[in-house]
Amino acid sequence: MQQIHNIFTKSSLLKRAFVSTSKRNFSSASTRTPIVGGNWKLNAGNGTTYSTVEELVNGLNEAPAPTSNVEIVCAAPTLYLDRVNQTLDSSKFSVSAQNCFYENKGAYTGENSAVMLKDLNINWTLIGHSERRDIFHETDDMLERKITNALNEQVSVIACCGEHKEDRENGTTMNVLVPQLQAMANGVENSTSKSWDNVVIAYEPVWAIGTGLTATPEQAQETHANIRAWLRENVSESVANSVRIQYGGSVTDANAKELGNMPDIDGFLVGGASLDAGKFSAIYSAFD
Ligand code: PGA
Repeated sequence: MQQIHNIFTKSSLLKRAFVSTSKRNFSSASTRTPIVGGNWKLNAGNGTTYSTVEELVNGLNEAPAPTSNVEIVCAAPTLYLDRVNQTLDSSKFSVSAQNCFYENKGAYTGENSAVMLKDLNINWTLIGHSERRDIFHETDDMLERKITNALNEQVSVIACCGEHKEDRENGTTMNVLVPQLQAMANGVENSTSKSWDNVVIAYEPVWAIGTGLTATPEQAQETHANIRAWLRENVSESVANSVRIQYGGSVTDANAKELGNMPDIDGFLVGGASLDAGKFSAIYSAFD
């Protein structure tokens, strides 16, 4: 951890003038509604059966509702999506898939379809999580097509991007993120509406996922600002200003407040800590 932090502090990227670490100011600086996602991954709550999913759902339903205008999305495993959607308090939480294919039906064994998600009233999906990229070899081209198809079926997208440890250490983080961002932009551009309104970007440094290593608020802010700068230059000023960018990677109840104070951090995508209703509610309450 120390090593990564040293590398980061020495990074020339950190010295760029446009990096702002001033506190988030909800009343004036940002009109973006924070959005916090819980990515349950292949976990049935803290166990392996529906009963442990039910425990998590009950815990979330009993957890304090956020007092401010925060949107919360829980990405359950496919097998439980329908039941979670029927039992999770919809006044507090939306439900999301973790993946969704670019075709809606046919001979695609093992896949999810946007049309079928809609049929079950599930209006969100994650796309391009680094585990999909690294373990299941999803390419930017596939992610682009998945984004287009989801948006065409009115399924909102949390599109993920992130760099590996060696990219960060080599100072090539943005070189790695740009093709991922370009795939997102192409995916939106190829959709019928061409609108970013239903797209959230999750910036998740791969070295921080599930490792207990978190980017410092300044490191995360810097990359979020760089992503926004890329959007400003390559998409539009209004998209750059309005798209919500979540930070993901070992977010906990202990670091959420500080990260959430950063002006370009508009929420989190939370893995491990989202399996604990108390921790997850403390995380989304960081935006109160
Ligand atoms: P983590 O996972 O919070 O367990 O690091 C984040 C994610 O993969 O979305």
